[in-house]
Formats: sequence, C-alpha cells, structure tokens
Amino acid sequence: MSCSAIPELRKTRQVLPISRWSCDVCPDSQSRAEMAVKKMGLGLPVLVLVLWVLPLQVTSAVRSFSIDYTNNCFCKDGVPFRYISGSIHYFRIPAAYWKDRLLKMYMSGLNAVQVYVPWNYHETLPGIYNFAGDKDLEGFLDLVAQLGLLVILRPGPYICAEWEMGGLPFWLLAQPNIVLRTTDPDFLQAVDKWLDVLLPKIKPRLYHNGGNIISVQVENEYGSYYACDYDYLRYLLSAFHAHLGEEVVLFTTDGLKDRDLQCGTIQGLYATVDFGTGINMTQAFELQRQYEPKGPLVNSEYYTGWLDYWGEPHSTSSAEEVAKGLQKMLKMGANINMYMFQGGTNFGYWSGADYKKIFNPITTSYDYDAPLSEAGDPTAKVHAIRTVIAKFQTLPAGPMPPPTPKYAYGYVSLPERVNLLDILGLLSPVQPVHTPFPLTFEVMSQAHGFILYRTILPHDILEPVLLSAPNNGVHDLAYILLNGQYKGTLERDKVSGVMVTGQAGDTLDLLVENMGRINFGANVSDFKGLIHNVTLDSTILKDWFIYPLDIDSAVAHAWPPVAPRSKGNTGPAFYTGTFTTPGINWDSFVKFPGWTKGQLWINGFNLGRFWPARGSQQTLFVPGLLLNSSAPNIITVLELQKAPEEPIVVFLDQPLFNYTHSSTTRDME
Ligand SMILES: *[C@@H]1O[C@H](CO)[C@@H](O)[C@H](O)[C@H]1NC(C)=O
Ligand SMILES: *[C@@H]1O[C@H](CO)[C@@H](O)[C@H](O)[C@H]1NC(C)=O
Ligand SMILES: *[C@@H]1O[C@H](CO)[C@@H](O)[C@H](O)[C@H]1NC(C)=O
Ligand SMILES: *[C@@H]1O[C@H](CO)[C@@H](O)[C@H](O)[C@H]1NC(C)=O
Ligand SMILES: *[C@@H]1O[C@H](CO)[C@@H](O)[C@H](O)[C@H]1NC(C)=O
Repeated sequence: MSCSAIPELRKTRQVLPISRWSCDVCPDSQSRAEMAVKKMGLGLPVLVLVLWVLPLQVTSAVRSFSIDYTNNCFCKDGVPFRYISGSIHYFRIPAAYWKDRLLKMYMSGLNAVQVYVPWNYHETLPGIYNFAGDKDLEGFLDLVAQLGLLVILRPGPYICAEWEMGGLPFWLLAQPNIVLRTTDPDFLQAVDKWLDVLLPKIKPRLYHNGGNIISVQVENEYGSYYACDYDYLRYLLSAFHAHLGEEVVLFTTDGLKDRDLQCGTIQGLYATVDFGTGINMTQAFELQRQYEPKGPLVNSEYYTGWLDYWGEPHSTSSAEEVAKGLQKMLKMGANINMYMFQGGTNFGYWSGADYKKIFNPITTSYDYDAPLSEAGDPTAKVHAIRTVIAKFQTLPAGPMPPPTPKYAYGYVSLPERVNLLDILGLLSPVQPVHTPFPLTFEVMSQAHGFILYRTILPHDILEPVLLSAPNNGVHDLAYILLNGQYKGTLERDKVSGVMVTGQAGDTLDLLVENMGRINFGANVSDFKGLIHNVTLDSTILKDWFIYPLDIDSAVAHAWPPVAPRSKGNTGPAFYTGTFTTPGINWDSFVKFPGWTKGQLWINGFNLGRFWPARGSQQTLFVPGLLLNSSAPNIITVLELQKAPEEPIVVFLDQPLFNYTHSSTTRDME
C-alpha cells in the first residue's frame, strides 16, 4: 500500500508538531525493543539482554498507533497503515443484533468501524448512568474486538448524528441560559463529570494499551457551530489527554467550507474532513491539506446515502457513484470512513431534528440508504463497495451472510380504543403542577414524549375566536381538546392557531408532543412544550395544570388499561390488539393504513413515531426479537389525530417509502 500518493499541496498554516515518533524513524525491531523496554520501565543493561533473548516477543508486545507526517499516513505497529471503515450506531440497533451487523461489516472487507457515543443515552439525568442492555457500550466494543475490527471512537460530548439534541442531555437546559458547546462553566462542569465516567472505560481499550481503539474524535463538526470557541476545543483537548494519556491520536472532523475548518480545528487535534459523492475529491482533500499540510488524508464521513425528514422524499444514492468515489479516494491513499455503513432505527423518542428555515424533524427510520439496510441486510451497495475494497486489500474468506428472514404476519385488528384523557391518572400518576403560565419540558424535568397542559375557559365564546401560541410557542405539536373533543393541531412553524367556541368553565387541553430536539446548528437549545403563552383572541390564558406523561411505563407495565372503551376516531387515543405468530419471531415491517400520526409499542417496546400522512416513511421496522412466538403479542398504537374507520395495522415483509429522490451531496442549510 502506498502511503504517499498525494503530492505536497498548499501550506497556508504552520506544519503541526511532529508527533512523538513517526514511520520514517519507524522503529525497526531494535528501536521497538527500546520502546518496549521503556514501557516496561527497564534500564539499558536490561535492554541488551532483552534484545538478545526476546526480540520476537518484544516486537509483538509493542503496540503503537500514530500519525506519520513524513509518509502522509497512519503508522500502526511501525508500518504504514490505512483504514477503510464504516459507521455503525449501537444505539440504533438492538443489542442482540450487534454481532450480526458487525460480522457483515467485517465480511465487507472493512478493517475498522467508527462509533459515536451519545451522552444523553447514557446519562439520562444528572449523575444517573446507564450502560446496560442496548446501552452496553463496552459489550459492543468487545464484540467489535472479537471480530478483529479496529475502532475510531467519537465520544462527543456533542455528536450530532441526527440524534436527539445531538447527543447532549436535555437536562443541561434546566439552566436556561447555558451556552452549549462553549467554555460556559455550567456546560464544562457537566462535560467534566461525564468524561470522568466515560473516558476511563475507553483508556484500557486504546490500541497502544492493548485494545482496538486507534483514534478518538474530539467534538463533532465544531466549525459548523456558530460559537467558534477555540478555548472550548483546547479545554476538551487537555481533558482528553488528561484521561487518555499523551499517546492517543485525537482528531477533529469538519465540512468543506472555509469557516468550518477555521473554527473546527486547533493545534494538537488532527484535522480531517467529511464529504460525499458528486464533488471534486482532489479539491476536497486540498482543503484538508490547507490545515494539515502533512499526514494522512482522511474523509471521516463519506456519505453512502442521506437521512430523511418527515414530509420529504426518502433519500437514495446510487451504488455505482458511491463505489466510484470510494475507489477514487482509496487510489489517492486516503483513509475512509463510510457514513453510514448501517443506519438503523430511531426507536422511542430518540430522533433529532434540523432547523432549515423551519423546524424539520427526522424520521424514525435511519436507513440512510446505507450499504446495510435498516434491518441489517446486505444491499447492492454493499456488494459494489466490497468489490472496490477487494482491489486494495484482501477480503476475508467466505461469503457475505444472507439477509435475515422477514415475515409478513398480515393484518392485525386493534379493537380496544381508550381516549388518552380517560386514563390521565394512569399516564401521569403524580399530581399536576399548578402554575399561572405554562412551563417547558425542561422545567418539568421531562426529556421526551408528551405533556398535557390544561386550563379552563375564562368566559363564554359564542363566535369562533383564534386560540393560538404566538411566536411559535408550541414545540413541536399541540393537539387541542375542548371538553375532550378534538379541535385541531398546532404545529411549530406551520400552524399557529385554530378557531374555537365554548363556554366559561369548559376544559381546554393542549397535549404537546416533543418531536426531538434540534441536533445541528445554532438552534441547539431547543426547549420543548409550551415555550410561550397561549392566547385566546389575544388574551393570555392563565392558571394551568401541567401533567407530565409517562406513557411508556404505563404501556410496559399496566396494559391494556382498565378504562371504558370509547367510540369515534378523532383525537388522541390508544388502540390495542393482539396477534400470535406462526411459531416464529422473524423481523417485520408494520404499515398504518389510514392512520395519521402517532407512536407504536409492541409488547411494551417503543418502536418510534409513525406519520404516514406526512411520509415518506410508511412502515416501522419491527425487530423479530420483540415478538413472542409462543404467546399473544400486544400491539399498542397511540393515534394523535385521526384513526381509520377500521383500526388495523398490517405486517409486511419489506419496508415501504411512498416516494424517493436521489441525493448525493450534503445540504444542511
Ligand atoms: C478537480 O480539482 C483539481 C484540483 O483543483 C483539478 O486539477 C481537476 O481538474 C478537477 N477535476 C475536475 C473533473 O474538475
Ligand atoms: C435559530 O438560529 C438563528 C440563528 O441564530 C436565529 O436567527 C433563529 O431565530 C433561531 N430560530 C429559533 C426557532 O430559535
Ligand atoms: C406569559 O405572560 C405573563 C404575563 O404577561 C408574563 O409574565 C410571562 O413572562 C409570559 N410567559 C412567557 C413564557 O412568555
Ligand atoms: C405518500 O403517502 C401519503 C399518505 O398515504 C399521501 O398523502 C401522499 O400523497 C403520498 N405521496 C406520494 C408521492 O405518493
Ligand atoms: C413468551 O410468552 C411466554 C408465556 O407468557 C413466556 O413464558 C415467555 O417468557 C415469553 N417469551 C419471550 C421471549 O418473551
């Protein structure tokens, strides 16, 4: 493999300090032995002895990974090294399927995987940590190691990833003036506490410590953030070194705009770039060269596809184009991480949102048109990529594992309908908070989901008047009920008011849904709930009762609820039904014919949001492991607006997106 295929390009910045040692002084067995001896803390006389007795053992004991600024490559165990990697998010795949996905990545010819760590997934409330089950980061890293794959770790603290709030915990916003991703002391204090928990788990897994983590990214695309706070990056740099030692390879990743690289890079963090197909790749790497005149070329996110927003077409990109671009970069000697190699699913409430002129929530599926599909199956793209990789490095022996079996379980009727308001006590077992004006999710200390805001009409309204949340006061959707009757929906940036009539003393409810906090750009402090006052004919409504809802606990532990069954098909209501499988528990996809918008649970597991009326995603992925092959399975649908006359769902053996479009370039603004 050639590590120096790229000629020296423009130098607009000082060359960074050469790291401790590099490939050109790449230790032959003698200097490697010296290193080993140094590590063992032995003196010179012992060195001679060691060299004489143990050259082989010592050589294999020295593990090192570094940047070679002379030969423009990475240097692993003293020889030039290049990675061909793919991104996988353990937090978007059930733990039971991790091994299957990783094996397929290994069989694709990759030698590394790139992994984000979402802070908010693990520290759900301040000081409350969870690394169990689907959150077992170390278990995941163990599986990667068992397959002989290396790891490029991206522990944030901010990750974007189209994940709720870019991985930052919502509870940071309990201090409403906190300035995220800067040297704001409140932010840094929380970051420090988190890194104190996370990074000690990482240190023994670093390559030179005997593990498989070859490099660690600091922050994520920081140059795209408005703050451009170099002191913050420097703070993280020293915190990462303090926890991980001086030998670790730390890097940053940024987009190709000048400002991205200007604000995202500092001395001491190796600058890499990210870009997809459809651009001049030579020029793209020239940009990296402006910031790193020497060292390996790295595309840390080579886009194999793209994410989807509700209300927009499903993104797809051509396998041929992706493979062609990969080949081009590999020919240039570059290190590539393909983002994503397997996308997965935003289960529960974990999807994020972007702000592109208006609020744009991200779909439940994170299929990404990646080489491995949302269900983990090899696509034509994986085969095209594998063919290219085979030209540069040896593929592992054996075939690519086949797709996992899927099953169309068919129609399931959901006859049991219960109005959400009729089980308010079950969903919100605590006393409501009584306040003059509305409070946000953050003040209520509620991360996700739904909060119900209730007040009483202060006077009769005989002629229709506007009920509204001025200044985009609803984050993100509010389902309006008057005396339990559904009156319409307010939607952030889209629908600011509905007309109502009523009588003094009528109960007015706004069920407010959080669609995921913004994960990218300047609007990351994305407070949820009723963030301003609600007005009726321009009079501010006062005297609210706020019910934080914990629907997930109710559905998991007290279902089906003991409550009167209701008629009708509009307004927020739960629909429950059961089905049995023909003795199997294969993966499936569930479709919502005639439904509008809501949330789905199977056997108490929250599979995410559905919104067929908005599209383009029409089905939700159902991992088979959720299904019980020997007992009835309980399906719970929360429909927020309007259910079909005949409430059924349909299990298919393939996903359905009702329209697609082709996109190859990144367009975040
Ligand atoms: C890509 O950019 C390089 C360097 O700027 C230039 O020499 C080359 O002609 C460009 N290729 C295409 C196809 O435009
Ligand atoms: C988002 O950020 C931009 C730029 O700072 C600002 O102009 C805009 O008002 C913000 N929007 C929201 C909804 O906060
Ligand atoms: C709601 O209105 C009251 C009275 O005008 C005001 O004090 C309060 O700050 C407002 N709250 C919000 C969130 O705008
Ligand atoms: C996608 O499906 C939705 C809901 O069924 C429908 O309203 C929309 O028109 C469909 N769009 C296309 C392009 O078929
Ligand atoms: C399936 O249901 C049976 C009967 O309720 C139960 O004993 C078993 O543990 C369940 N299996 C799974 C995988 O949930």
